[in-house]
Amino acid sequence: MSNNSQAVLPKIARERLERIESRKAKVGIIGLGYVGLPLSLLFSEAGFTVTGFDIDDKKVTDLAAGRSYIFRIPAEEIQSARSKGFTATSDFSKLSDQDAVIMCVPTPLTEHREPDLSYVENTAKSAAPWIREGQIVILESTTYPGTTEELMIPVLEAGSSAGLKVQSKGSAAEKGVFYVAFSPEREDPGNTSVARRDIPKVVGGHEPIATELAATLYEGIFKRAIRVSSTNVAEMTKLLENIYRCVNIALVNELKLLALRMGVDIWEVIDAASTKPFGFHPFYPGPGLGGHCIPIDPFYLSWKAKEYDFNTRFIELAGEVNESMPAHVVQSVAKGLNTHKKAMNGSKILMLGMAYKKDIDDLRESPSLTVIELLREQGAEVLYNDPYFPKVGRGRHYNLNMTCTPLDKLDEYDCVLIMTDHSDYNYPEIVSKSKLVVDTRNATKGLKAANIVRC
Ligand SMILES: NC(=O)c1ccc[n+]([C@@H]2O[C@H](COP(=O)([O-])OP(=O)(O)OC[C@H]3O[C@@H](n4cnc5c(N)ncnc54)[C@H](O)[C@@H]3O)[C@@H](O)[C@H]2O)c1
Repeated sequence: MSNNSQAVLPKIARERLERIESRKAKVGIIGLGYVGLPLSLLFSEAGFTVTGFDIDDKKVTDLAAGRSYIFRIPAEEIQSARSKGFTATSDFSKLSDQDAVIMCVPTPLTEHREPDLSYVENTAKSAAPWIREGQIVILESTTYPGTTEELMIPVLEAGSSAGLKVQSKGSAAEKGVFYVAFSPEREDPGNTSVARRDIPKVVGGHEPIATELAATLYEGIFKRAIRVSSTNVAEMTKLLENIYRCVNIALVNELKLLALRMGVDIWEVIDAASTKPFGFHPFYPGPGLGGHCIPIDPFYLSWKAKEYDFNTRFIELAGEVNESMPAHVVQSVAKGLNTHKKAMNGSKILMLGMAYKKDIDDLRESPSLTVIELLREQGAEVLYNDPYFPKVGRGRHYNLNMTCTPLDKLDEYDCVLIMTDHSDYNYPEIVSKSKLVVDTRNATKGLKAANIVRC
């Protein structure tokens, strides 16, 4: 913000902005999961005093003891943040000490595949009594356009013990208001090619002061903040990004099915197409979508679209194709076993990889879970190996209660099924020691062996 426009800011916003710019601002982050914890560490590293809030007591205790619960975050990073004042608590009254409050809580789907905004709503309810005049409150959870304005702001205003209101889109109030913005998270777990601070941060305020406060705050940890005109634009930007991925993954998944019938290697095709220096971005087929974002977020928009009598056909079609992939994997295992004169019923299968993508410890919505269920339904005995998961217990849909099996005696399995292409696996050795390998990820690229089924 220019000095001129700063001058017209009301005092409560100007003071907040100065605290943010000088990094004296205190930042409260609600939800210390895959998004909130790394964000807390970034703010702490940049010199802000950070307090994390979570209802999960175990996370609070672990952080207090300097322990990490996310594989890719070493305990030393937590300890270093703690030495710079980072603390974690479940006491929401401490929110009133903060200059900025950022919410990073889950936004899953219900059993009926509708948006479950209960976490956002409950968080806003718990935070509301402690929101202070002049504070900037930012929602980061992925959600449909309208959530900040239609859900979060009314809950915060209704619960404000001081009777505060959000700054309206009209003239700037001198007192009695707080500021609200939406800024989507753009994390790509496991991606080491882009430093987090190089990822531009999209920010949309309810009105211009909120945009400025939030954008300036993020400029403290990211190289660029992209200011957009409203919370709705910021919310929909995130959905566009994820729908773009979801639809393109569905496209290559469908083309893979055709390529398999035609005897064409889809991976080689994608590699060749990727040499085009413009107009093509590679997406890769796989055993189905996983993670907290791509399988879920598009349906937030298709749900909201119904309010406008609008069918989001691309989203529905992409969902249909992507959701059929686990069944395709099971069919390919059956085919592979068949060539070895084995029935699925009674066969022993070792699944490699439970995480939804390589080299990460995130199991949410992983297609491996669905494939285990489907294989078991057909009478197969399924074991798994995944260096990131010593145990797999209860998930959103399944209670598998399984323990990681060592990677020895591979020849004792009727089939080894590669679901996640973790870098630690020695694929040539796996192929040479197994009777049958079904590969859903092209992990065996370049290997020529009669026992490999690529699917
Ligand atoms: N994980 C990703 O890679 C990623 C990427 C981009 C966007 N997002 C989005 O970010 C949001 C958070 O995702 P995540 O992966 O960090 O989720 P997560 O489940 O890892 O973490 C959420 C945290 O919020 C806490 N929480 C739940 N309700 C709470 C409440 N009422 N008060 C305080 N804490 C509460 C939980 O205990 C948990 O620690 C989601 O909307 C998600 O779609 C996630």
